[in-house]
Amino acid sequence: MRNPPSGRRVARPYTRVLTGITGAVAVCAVLTVPTAAAPPGTQPQSETTAATAAAGPEVRLPDGLAQTPPMGFNNWNSTHCRAEFDHEMVKGIADIFVEKGLKDAGYEYVNIDDCWALPERDANGKLVPDPVRFPDGIKAVADYVHSKGLKFGIYTSAGTKTCNQAGFPGSLGHEESDAQQFADWGVDYLKYDNCNNQGVDAVERYTKMRDALKATGRPIVYSICEWGENDPWEWAADVGHLWRTTGDISDNWSSVLGIMKQNLPLAEHAGPGHWNDPDMLEVGNGGMTDTEYRTHFSMWSIMAAPLLIGSDLRGADEATFEILGNEEVIAVDQDPLGKQGTVVSSEDGRWVVSKEMADGSRTVALFNESGSPQEISTTAGEVGLPAAGGYRLRDLWQHQDRDSGGEITAAVPAHGTVLYRVWPDADAGSPPAGTTFASDWEWYLARNGWGPAERDTSVGERPAGDGAPLTVGGETYAKGLGVHAPGEIGYYTAEECETFAADVGLDDESGGDGSVAFEVWADDAKVAESGVLTNDRPAQPLSADVGGAQTVRLVVTDGGDGIDHDHADWADARFTC
Ligand code: GLA
Repeated sequence: MRNPPSGRRVARPYTRVLTGITGAVAVCAVLTVPTAAAPPGTQPQSETTAATAAAGPEVRLPDGLAQTPPMGFNNWNSTHCRAEFDHEMVKGIADIFVEKGLKDAGYEYVNIDDCWALPERDANGKLVPDPVRFPDGIKAVADYVHSKGLKFGIYTSAGTKTCNQAGFPGSLGHEESDAQQFADWGVDYLKYDNCNNQGVDAVERYTKMRDALKATGRPIVYSICEWGENDPWEWAADVGHLWRTTGDISDNWSSVLGIMKQNLPLAEHAGPGHWNDPDMLEVGNGGMTDTEYRTHFSMWSIMAAPLLIGSDLRGADEATFEILGNEEVIAVDQDPLGKQGTVVSSEDGRWVVSKEMADGSRTVALFNESGSPQEISTTAGEVGLPAAGGYRLRDLWQHQDRDSGGEITAAVPAHGTVLYRVWPDADAGSPPAGTTFASDWEWYLARNGWGPAERDTSVGERPAGDGAPLTVGGETYAKGLGVHAPGEIGYYTAEECETFAADVGLDDESGGDGSVAFEVWADDAKVAESGVLTNDRPAQPLSADVGGAQTVRLVVTDGGDGIDHDHADWADARFTC
């Protein structure tokens, strides 16, 4: 059987998948004058850019805002420019935030998007609220939102006009005046779009508004919305508190999926006060199933994305409130450590994403991209948890706990996500006394070059449990581990085991031209190795003194000739503890 060079398929960073582009963006594209510079990274640096680069990515806005990803509401995904976007809606959402417990769950900002203004400024160059949508003006709405203990956000564009075809005024060239007007109205959050930017350098445009907001003296969260066009993750951390990484989301599965795949590789750029923004939530808008909406909410949370509700909660069903109000999932998003989750593995639509949490736990998303149910597995070690005798797994959608020796596994429905929070369990039991087969004992770590590692059978093909009896040099073994190079299996031995022993060799199913080397590691020391073994040999005895080790790792390398056909057996593998 032929094996691939690697089982991993992780989305490439910085690809521009144009999934989920809505009509609105198409409109933007028509109205936007493209920036003078072509591909990101090739444009000449403005002074600001150069200063930003010289200062390094560790520079952050020193205002202490958005230490966790902003949470709240924005009307755009629900209403676009339609007439139901008005003061009644905004006030109604604020009421619901309070009545339905969403405010208590952390939702704070009630934000309005494009189409709130009249197309023309007044004689003094000031922005004028649309008197039909906002008959009492914007300040009255902001006051109402504030009276509920919530905060208020507004929208404009870093261009001459916003994105809507009606041609509402943008703030390019009016930064100081508009920022002051927003501050006077009591605005707490500005989303600053990218349409009609006249080709002016993005860093220059967005920095200008940052400085104008700062000059007002009012704390205002600053959301940069240039759709990831100028790689904002490289320069925006000291310009805004969050930056869109993609084009517009829309209320369908392929949009959510495409955006997720673009945003995941950007994890290293996110942190307190500076977040990747994969766009606002579609949960509750009707274009996806509840399973898909739970995946959307789970993945946005594990990516530490802003959680801006984008559906009209005045007509929302209970399932929508249950998803958006899941406080255990919200706690993942809002974790104070501020790490964006990273991809542990992605194979055949089975995604494992892990997020380090402030308390030392990990949140693990087992996400099934495919259209049929799949079992998805990882281990505590693989998601970055320390070796331990056991782990507590909390299912954040079922709200149930279970214990595990280190395996993190679930049957996940099509397009579904199982979200676990996993803690090492300090009280978990010691290693079993006496001699124990490795295949009868829980491992905390398992990495395998081809399909999952198997207990008491060979690896076989890629699905779990499809191996044959362990067979080396014609001899068959009832017990042992079937693995495939390169890989390792880790056991938590807690200084209580003395020896490890096995008969090791290439499984006969490898067909004659594989080669593999076996190694036993006690903590960080290699304590036994087989040398390179090939198919023409019977199993070799391998034993190691593992006394005093916290962990023992059984490692297989490819023997130096690539990983093809490297089906390796740890036959009769056993610990004496
Ligand atoms: C752009 C933005 C959207 C929305 C619209 C409003 O498309 O990316 O989020 O604000 O403009 O016109």
